[in-house]
Amino acid sequence: MAGPTEHAHWSSRWTFMLAAVGSAVGLGNIWKFPYQAGLNGGGAFVLFYLAFVFLIGLPVLMAELSIGRRAQKSPVYAMEQVASEEGRSKLWVLLGWSGVLGGFIILTYYSVVGGWVLAYIVKAAQGFGGFDAEMSRATFGAFSTDPVEPVIWHFVFMAVTVAIVAQGLKGGLEKAVKALMPALFVLLIGMVIYSGVVGDLGAALYFLFNPDFHTLFYQETVDAATGAVTQTFTIARVLNALGLAFFSLSLGMGTIMTYGSYLTKDINIGKSAFTIALADSAVALMAGLAIFPIVFAFGLNPGESVGLVFITLPIAFGQMPGGEIVGAAFFFLLAFAAITSAISLIEPTVSFIEEKTGKSRGVIASFVGGLIATIGLLSAWSQSGSVLGDVSIFGMDLMSAKGYLTDNIMMPAGGLFIAIFSGWFISRKNAMEELALEDASFRKYYFLVKYVCPVAISAVFVSVLFF
Ligand code: PFF
Repeated sequence: MAGPTEHAHWSSRWTFMLAAVGSAVGLGNIWKFPYQAGLNGGGAFVLFYLAFVFLIGLPVLMAELSIGRRAQKSPVYAMEQVASEEGRSKLWVLLGWSGVLGGFIILTYYSVVGGWVLAYIVKAAQGFGGFDAEMSRATFGAFSTDPVEPVIWHFVFMAVTVAIVAQGLKGGLEKAVKALMPALFVLLIGMVIYSGVVGDLGAALYFLFNPDFHTLFYQETVDAATGAVTQTFTIARVLNALGLAFFSLSLGMGTIMTYGSYLTKDINIGKSAFTIALADSAVALMAGLAIFPIVFAFGLNPGESVGLVFITLPIAFGQMPGGEIVGAAFFFLLAFAAITSAISLIEPTVSFIEEKTGKSRGVIASFVGGLIATIGLLSAWSQSGSVLGDVSIFGMDLMSAKGYLTDNIMMPAGGLFIAIFSGWFISRKNAMEELALEDASFRKYYFLVKYVCPVAISAVFVSVLFF
């Protein structure tokens, strides 16, 4: 078990890869990517998302893994140690703290959506027979705004997450990812094939891969009184793509740094990070290819927002033979993908408290999980006005506002500072030693982390302030 004196390590590179992909692949890929692509206009958004994953996400992923591995500690202590070894300000420890806090905030809404997924396992098993677009939308609407049912599922989701985290790295997380990650891939491939056959694959491919930059950069508003349409230039959708890249790769929140701290020196960080980024973006695209053919074939709106997975897929499950089993299996595996990500969101806090207090994982995980579940009530209830009234923050409900804060601000900002720290405050020699890359690959990494990441992330942030 991890502790201040004896730090746990992955059993093998394979289990590390499964866990890291398990963290990266989650609701972000299968729930959020499709609905964000839908809301933000498709192809051009997808192109920016992919560019951000490989040009910005990948180097930050490598930087986080190498800081974690170098220190062999959770993010707060890792930042403190590496900054002190490099003779840098103690303030860098704040980056570790922001990761712990961010993971905590994300989980207070992530677990609500995780709960929706659990509930949909049961609903799918009962069957969505005869569902059309309207019925599907009404069912999801009634469920997500109910004051009790989603809350119960949210608690179940957190309880499962806590139970796995309490078992420690090898007894819990590793066992869990070994069994279910491969199954998730198989099922997703099955879903893509099914959708391609019964749905409108051509329209989906066109939507996802034909970049329409005008839609990405211009927001249309319709004047309610006159019906006049105005178009205004905006960078907001580019920021959404950046936020999604960070969210789907689990970056900027100390999660990946924590997983890096369980790495041994013989693991090649560059290769591993590339594989993680590839698997993560492949799952996002596959989720798009599983969902959009159905969206277009059934005349649904791709901009359905948070309900997309919960509204569109049931229609397909309701019509296919054996849909109850396939539907339940799909939501079961989506739940698993969400749980392996939730584990990684709580892990930095748990391992930090473990290092600090030496108390048992079971006690710490239950305490942190209980706190997150309680705060999460606010997210669950923000979906309807029935308990809290209609609380709105900058025009968003509480859950969307938290999502905006973590995905579009905290994660890219965390990534920005990790890139600055790794490119400018860790000596080139030490960075090179830790990554142990070939010369040419290291030069590429260093250029990206030192110049491209800070400039690109700052540019997106600054432009959003003006447009
Ligand atoms: N990457 C996860 C997903 O795509 O669902 C979400 C996530 C996990 C975000 C861990 C941040 C994090 F630290």
